[in-house]
Amino acid sequence: NIKGIIFDLDGVLVDTARYHFQAWRQLAESLGFSFTEEENERLKGVSRRASLEILLSMGKLTLSEDEKESAMASKNKNYVEMIGKMTPEGILPGALDLLKELKQSGIKTALGSASKNAPLILERTGLARYLDAVVDGNRTSRAKPDPEVFLLGAGDLKLEPGECLVFEDAAAGIEAAQNAGMKTAGIGRKNQLNRADILFPNLQGVTWSVLSKKLSDLPR
Ligand code: BG6
Ligand code: MG
Repeated sequence: NIKGIIFDLDGVLVDTARYHFQAWRQLAESLGFSFTEEENERLKGVSRRASLEILLSMGKLTLSEDEKESAMASKNKNYVEMIGKMTPEGILPGALDLLKELKQSGIKTALGSASKNAPLILERTGLARYLDAVVDGNRTSRAKPDPEVFLLGAGDLKLEPGECLVFEDAAAGIEAAQNAGMKTAGIGRKNQLNRADILFPNLQGVTWSVLSKKLSDLPR
């Protein structure tokens, strides 16, 4: 029985996945190689450092620790410039309606994000007041697909993992939630998120009753 929902941030509640992609692409180009949207799928949900490591392996490049630090700093500076201009309009369609409905229905909500920039985004968009708990990259030490971020979220909500459903747009995030023993709802396309228990193209029209129905139809 689901009593709490944990939301990933980038690409689920807010339209920031494209900013991450743009910033990583600029970094790749400055290092002399190209980086496609398809390749970017592997970076989704993954921490800043782990993302850099994947990007470098794609470009077949090795950097010293100092160079890595400065590459991450430059990517992040770029990214922060983009999200610093966000407004509530950066909230993805359907997200606010769902969060409001969950609050009214007594379903607990938490954020489960790998991003260290989550506080800035929550502030810029006004999303903070719809969340009962916030776990972000400033509190975690292990990147998705490690379940840490979602287990901390369940703990904050005082729920068992089995009582939580996770919304994720990243394959690594779906895996993390499953590693935590939680039900998963993918946001995106089947070919990228084929392991999710249920799948939606986006949050538009996703209501608690739609969710309850889909969850009760799952094999147990
Ligand atoms: C995740 C994004 O939410 O956060 C990743 O999907 C990103 O693309 C990760 O790398 C870490 O974010 P940040 O803001 O701490 O660099
Ligand atoms: Mg995401």
